[in-house]
Amino acid sequence: MSMDELIKRTSNHIRTARQLAVLTGAGVSKESGVPTFRDAQEGLWAQFDPTQLATPFAFMENPKLVWDFYEYRRERMRPAQPNPGHYALAELQRRYPSLRIITQNVDDLHERAGSTEVIRLHGNIAGNKCFFNCQGDPTPVDVSQIEWDKTSGPPPCPHCGKWVRPSVVWFGEMLPSEQVRRAKELLNSADLILVVGTSGLVSPAADMPYLVKQRGGVVIEINPDSSSAIARIADIHLQGPSGEILPQVLAALLDAS
Ligand code: OAD
Repeated sequence: MSMDELIKRTSNHIRTARQLAVLTGAGVSKESGVPTFRDAQEGLWAQFDPTQLATPFAFMENPKLVWDFYEYRRERMRPAQPNPGHYALAELQRRYPSLRIITQNVDDLHERAGSTEVIRLHGNIAGNKCFFNCQGDPTPVDVSQIEWDKTSGPPPCPHCGKWVRPSVVWFGEMLPSEQVRRAKELLNSADLILVVGTSGLVSPAADMPYLVKQRGGVVIEINPDSSSAIARIADIHLQGPSGEILPQVLAALLDAS
């Protein structure tokens, strides 16, 4: 079946869906210049496996190394702007207000494109908090108000003096319970899930399309890679970059309305 046919079918599914969920991964931000999680890191970081750095144990063992890794990722993300894929999802939500995005990403490009009520499973890389959440979980810390020797690694928490860390979920950590509750509530009623730009390797996000499928819902995947873990259960696989495909899906919807 041609891509145009598949896109037309996708727009029909969206139009007839009672509750639309979207699950995004790093791929949706790739065309904004943000490397995906499993893209090879560059320069100094090429020698490290990100999954070995994004853990509380790595941080306790070498706080400066992990802090510097996140400072590098924040620097890389700073110039990033939402791409047409982010904007298409925001426009889709304006037309279907009950639509909710569940994202694994730690950038804020969905919100900056205009999407609202984004369900953030893995936190936000722009934020920081006390490693020990000394004032309660979480204890946000605004590092712009702290003077410290930046070559020494993370700043001290202004409350307890211990380490400050990025406000992202690390391997081995629980996801924010309120975000998980919101995601489950959405998935219990979703009869269509658009899965955009994820390898589908990390649970519980990776399990979410299966929940919709098990309840008889429709799974549509957008990914240049046709062998992701989601592809095997996708009713429709739109092979290509989301920054190109999502605007085409939106255009097909507008054409038909
Ligand atoms: P990955 O790097 O695992 O996968 C990115 C996916 O995006 C791949 O399937 C690519 O084929 C696809 N992709 C690449 N370019 C694309 C484009 N232009 N448009 C659409 N898709 C594109 O990133 P995630 O699946 O997001 O968790 O990784 C999931 C989680 O694994 C991350 O949130 C992170 C990591 O462990 C934590 O840090 C807790």
